[in-house]
Amino acid sequence: MEFDIKTVSVEPFEGQKTGTSGLRKKVRVFQQPGYLEAFVQSVFCALPEIPGSGFDQPSAEERVLVLGGDGRYFNKEAIRNILRLAAANNVNRVLVGQNGLLCTPAVSAIIRRRNLAGGIILTASHNPGGPEADFGIKYNTKDGGPAPESYTDVFYKWTRQIREYRIAVDPSTADGDPFSEISLERPRVYEFLSRDTKSRFVIEVIDSMDDYVSLLKEIFDFQMLRELFRRSDFSMLFDALHGVTGPYGKRIFVEELGAAPESLRNCQPLEDFGGGHPDPNLVYAADLVSRCDPKQNPNAPQFGAASDGDGDRNMVLGRGFFVTPSDSLAVIVAYAKDAIPYFRKGGLVGAARSMPTASAVDKVTAKLKINVFETPTGWKYFSNLLSSGKAQICGEESFGTSSDHIREKDGLWAILCWLSILAYRNVGKTPVGSFIGIQQIVEEHWKEYGRNFFTRYDYEECDAVAAERMMAHLRQYQENGDYAVLERVVGHPVIVADDFTYTDPVDHSVAKNQGLRFVFANGSRIVFRISGTGSTGATIRMYIEKFVQDQAKMFADTAEALSDLIHVALQVSQLEAFTGRTAPSVIT
Ligand code: G6P
Ligand code: ZN
Repeated sequence: MEFDIKTVSVEPFEGQKTGTSGLRKKVRVFQQPGYLEAFVQSVFCALPEIPGSGFDQPSAEERVLVLGGDGRYFNKEAIRNILRLAAANNVNRVLVGQNGLLCTPAVSAIIRRRNLAGGIILTASHNPGGPEADFGIKYNTKDGGPAPESYTDVFYKWTRQIREYRIAVDPSTADGDPFSEISLERPRVYEFLSRDTKSRFVIEVIDSMDDYVSLLKEIFDFQMLRELFRRSDFSMLFDALHGVTGPYGKRIFVEELGAAPESLRNCQPLEDFGGGHPDPNLVYAADLVSRCDPKQNPNAPQFGAASDGDGDRNMVLGRGFFVTPSDSLAVIVAYAKDAIPYFRKGGLVGAARSMPTASAVDKVTAKLKINVFETPTGWKYFSNLLSSGKAQICGEESFGTSSDHIREKDGLWAILCWLSILAYRNVGKTPVGSFIGIQQIVEEHWKEYGRNFFTRYDYEECDAVAAERMMAHLRQYQENGDYAVLERVVGHPVIVADDFTYTDPVDHSVAKNQGLRFVFANGSRIVFRISGTGSTGATIRMYIEKFVQDQAKMFADTAEALSDLIHVALQVSQLEAFTGRTAPSVIT
């Protein structure tokens, strides 16, 4: 089959600037004629200018990309268009996930395992989907991670100067699409020839799961996990929130590990995620939370888990018990070498957490005598640590956890870590009926290392100027250096009060102004920062952490344990006076 290349004029669109989460906009914005085309053409114009992109040398090996998304509204249409743009822009081959679906961690795995030049992921992560909601497009490079600034700056330059895009056409078809006949429904290779350049263009529909599942099988002991699922006193509930991980959950938990089909909830990917927010937390996954609570469901499973729209975030629950992401990271690191073959064989020399993430993992790394790093918020800051071998496991309070097996967060990986810990504690060790569950494992962890109570208050859609004024006020407060009010409440002196600065230990780059923190001598912390991902106004995040070693106080309710600190943090920040907000929009 042959196609022609057509050049179409286009005017640059405002605001096609991307960060590490790509270009995220309303579907309506993407639906403007030429909008998606202008952006994708800009990427294809930029890549040859970027050293190491795989497109920078005429004689480079095959320019192969992988393409897929989380199945949200506009996914299919975008895939069709991107294939036509790729064909007209020197791409040799595009691997497309079956039905256009690929979870974010699978894209990262496919790029790395197959040595591809990169990948295009169609997702707006945990944001809602549908005609009135969000869409996104993100480029990942050949290490499997999101394009860094050295790429996105060139993308942006091109979006401002773009005047035309090149697209494959076939005048003999009704809609001009030369690929309209191909089916994404099953794996198959399609070959085309460009009449203009005489070069071959291949579309290969691939199984969305094979590469990723093979990788997970190399990391975890699936045999042992199967034994866990064989126990009559163990059951699991996995909620995909109608995101892309549904089919992966079915394949991994049910087909590979033998979980009962009833273990799956909301595992059918839907274009609008069933109208919900595909974000795994106590607010948006409330249905799962109540099903896992024995007070509300006598048949509550031992283990509950969820992931977000594109599969990079995770939430972990026991019976009526929520594991904070900060604790999750700490417990995974503590058990990694015992419970997970990948770390048993490959070792574990370090772990990392973002600065606002509670410091529970630091206690574990200290005991294991391994590295620990505190980075700014944003997965990209872990990249150098992972690639240089300084750290293998990373996590953030925002429900992201992963390791150096890929360069993205990985929700299913985190869930398999917890299943591995449960298997390690139970299989061949506990008699049926005395299952050691999530809560016991976490409480034992607290008894050994102490407990880091943690909460995050989000004040969404604040007036941006007011939010900046509040931050300026707090900076001034830090300059004055009189912390008597804080110290009276906490009962310990402030030992660090600054605007967090991070120096990357690998490339020595410096990231400044990453959040205002007050650290007390007993390990308690108050942190304020403005979210980097909010879309309207400014989202203020207030993070509160308290470290408790006294077992008499360890099992208190989080809100109660932190109430003093929350109160004094609001007092010194004057958040209400600056923003007019009397309560947070979300508490996690
Ligand atoms: C995304 C990023 C994370 C980050 C989170 C919250 O999920 O991948 O690395 O922690 O957003 O960021 P924010 O700036 O809104 O606190
Ligand atoms: Zn996500």
